[in-house]
Amino acid sequence: MFRFKKKEKIEIPLEVPKHIGIIMDGNGRWAKKRMQPRVFGHKAGMEALQEVTIAAKNMGVQVLTVYAFSTENWARPKDEVAALMGLIVEYFNKKIDELDRKGVCIRMLGDLSAVPDLQRETALRAMERTKDNKGLKLNIALNYGGRQEILRAARRLAEKCADGEMRPEQIDEVAFEGELYTAGLPMVDLLIRTSGEERISNFLLYQCAYAEFVFVPEYWPDFTREVFARALETYARRDRRFGKV
Ligand code: FPP
Repeated sequence: MFRFKKKEKIEIPLEVPKHIGIIMDGNGRWAKKRMQPRVFGHKAGMEALQEVTIAAKNMGVQVLTVYAFSTENWARPKDEVAALMGLIVEYFNKKIDELDRKGVCIRMLGDLSAVPDLQRETALRAMERTKDNKGLKLNIALNYGGRQEILRAARRLAEKCADGEMRPEQIDEVAFEGELYTAGLPMVDLLIRTSGEERISNFLLYQCAYAEFVFVPEYWPDFTREVFARALETYARRDRRFGKV
C-alpha cells in the first residue's frame, strides 16, 4: 500500500515498473465539465504532469514516457493546436528548473523537424540542459506516432544495409530497438490511459509488446499522485508471464 505521509514522502513496498507510458487523456472533457475552454484543461494537465513526474521519480520509476502531442493532433482546430504549442514552451519555461534540480533527464520522442522553431528549440535546450542528469528519464512524445517510429527505424536500417554498414540478416530485435526513439531504454512495463478510454492510439506500439495496461476513469487533470499510486498497485497485482506459463 502506498501512503503519502507528507509531501514528497512515499512508502514503496511494491514492485515498481521500470518504464511507464502515459496517455494523458481527458483534458478537454475536464474543462467542458467546468464550462471552460479546452485549453483550460490542457493547462491543468500540465500541472498534473509535473506532479506525476515528481511522484514517479520519488517512487523509483526509471523511465516515464508521456504522450503530449500526436502526429494526428495537428488535425485539431487551429486555435487548440496553437494553444498546445504555446503550452509546450510554457511548460519548459516554468517547470525546467524543478525538473533539473530533481535530476530529471528529458528526451523528446517524435519528429521535431515538423514542429515550429520556437517549440523545437525550447525542447532541444531542455534536453541539452538535462542530458547528464542521472534521475528519472522523462520522455515527452511530441509530434509522435508509433507507426511512424517503426517505419523510421525500418528505413534507417535499410539505409545502413544499402550503405554496406550491415547485412539484412543482422537485423534483429536489438538492432531494431536501437533505431527507435527509445533506444537504450527498457521496454514499457505499464501503460496507463486516463479518462476511461481503452485504446493505444498509436503510442509506443513496439515498446508495449508485453506492457500491462491500466485504464483509469479520471480525466488527466485529476490524475493525482494518489491515483497514480493506485494504478501502480493494480500493476503490482498483475501476473506477468511474457508469453510463458
Ligand atoms: C488529450 O486530451 C490530451 C492532449 C492531446 C494533450 C496533452 C497535453 C498536456 C497534458 C499538456 C501538458 C503537456 C506538456 C508536455 C506541456 P484531450 O484534449 O483529447 O481530451 P478530451 O478527450 O477530453 O477531448
